[in-house]
Amino acid sequence: MTTSTPFFGTTFHVVTFGCQMNKHDSERISGMLEGLGSLPVNSIPEADIVIYMTCCVREAADVRLYGQVASLKNVPLRKESPLTKRIVAVGGCIGQRDGEKLIQKLPHLDVVFGTHNLVSLPSLLGEAIADCGHHVEVLDSANSFPTELPTSREHAWAAWLPITIGCNNFCTYCIVPYVRGREKSRAMDDIVSEARSYVAAGVKEITLLGQNVNSYGRDLYGEPRFADVLDAIDATGIERLRFATSHPKDLTDEVIGKFATLRSLMPALHLPAQSGSDKILEAMNRRYTSAHYLELVRKLRKAVPDIALSTDIIVGFPGETEDDFQQTYDLVKQVGYHQVFTFIYSKREGTPAASIPDDTPREVIQDRFDRLVDLVQHQAFERNQADAGRTVPVLVEGASRRDARLLVGKSPKNQTVHAPIPQGTSAESLAGSIQNVRVDQAKTWYLSGQVVR
Ligand code: SAH
Ligand code: SF4
Ligand code: F3S
Repeated sequence: MTTSTPFFGTTFHVVTFGCQMNKHDSERISGMLEGLGSLPVNSIPEADIVIYMTCCVREAADVRLYGQVASLKNVPLRKESPLTKRIVAVGGCIGQRDGEKLIQKLPHLDVVFGTHNLVSLPSLLGEAIADCGHHVEVLDSANSFPTELPTSREHAWAAWLPITIGCNNFCTYCIVPYVRGREKSRAMDDIVSEARSYVAAGVKEITLLGQNVNSYGRDLYGEPRFADVLDAIDATGIERLRFATSHPKDLTDEVIGKFATLRSLMPALHLPAQSGSDKILEAMNRRYTSAHYLELVRKLRKAVPDIALSTDIIVGFPGETEDDFQQTYDLVKQVGYHQVFTFIYSKREGTPAASIPDDTPREVIQDRFDRLVDLVQHQAFERNQADAGRTVPVLVEGASRRDARLLVGKSPKNQTVHAPIPQGTSAESLAGSIQNVRVDQAKTWYLSGQVVR
């Protein structure tokens, strides 16, 4: 293949922002470039080719990208590089949104690509290497799934498996439908055969991905078939199965029931509530009420009393009053989450909410945010106490970054668990295995204990 020649002897590094979709796309990019003879490296100074996979869901991520790419100008190319200059590419959601405009703002950028054309990246990079020019390709919609591309997974024992791409929900604050396009489901046979190949390769945990996995299949089969996907993946023999993200309006009783019946489905669910105020939920176009949400929680806990719930909350949506915020606070209190991802509303140009008048002072929003974070921390601590004294099966990820004498891994409820590396073993040899850990201490963000053999 002629496009492969420019890559021999080169090194590359992918910097990933944003959600699991980007992480998955980055693994595909690594798979393609490794296949073409480029070597992955862990830092920017060592890399001849740097690729940013970007996110624009909130303003902070946007700003960070511009700063990082601008500062690359001062990082010299390594001496052994076969290239005459470093090649810098920007893809993902900012690539899709800004296209050509990025090159105007960052003239030393070589390649811009969107969310629908990962497959073109090697040829765009190859052209940039050959002619040192700018190469931009952003398509309006996808004609293939990135899952048809090779992959180089971050961990051998865990795999992301996209079942849908895009989103049709148009929550009024959210940029995702504009940068990821309309929802498309992947054929069930494809999904199952990919899952089987992972099981055969020794993968222990599969996470099904989609902006709203619950509506899987509506475009292909006329009705959601997510519960069928869960059955089919469970039947492959995979050890642990998870999925993200679930939209409360589409979470069916059938799917809730699977938590009680499917061997592999882990007792943890991320169910973004966004707000507890019906007025705000309506303005967000979420299409459920707080009562409906609480009913889902009741059913989930009936199916699996000990299920760990997590959520996303936006504080300071335009027009949010103290009373609206109190309703959110009460909802969070009532549910009792294991984890809550809290965000301050960030105005995104081009979304409907961007034109709603927004006059709540910044300090008021920050104060609400701080109160919520306080509650969330107390709640996480309380929830984790239920596991103190229990023995939990932990899927080991390796040595802890904070303390190399400790193993780190995940419990079925997706809690981070630490334990000293047992004598005669090593973090490397245990990575990817499931070890029973007796929990001695339950903290806010992790459990710690001893491996029992
Ligand atoms: N499809 C998923 C995830 C979307 S993005 C879902 O529907 O849950 C992840 C989270 O970012 C959202 O759940 C929301 O809480 C947050 N988010 C999205 N747009 C935002 C904005 N403009 N400002 C602040 N938070 C936002
Ligand atoms: Fe954004 Fe809503 Fe789609 Fe999630 S469901 S990606 S929040 S529009
Ligand atoms: Fe960000 Fe795009 Fe995901 S905007 S959250 S990377 S879909």
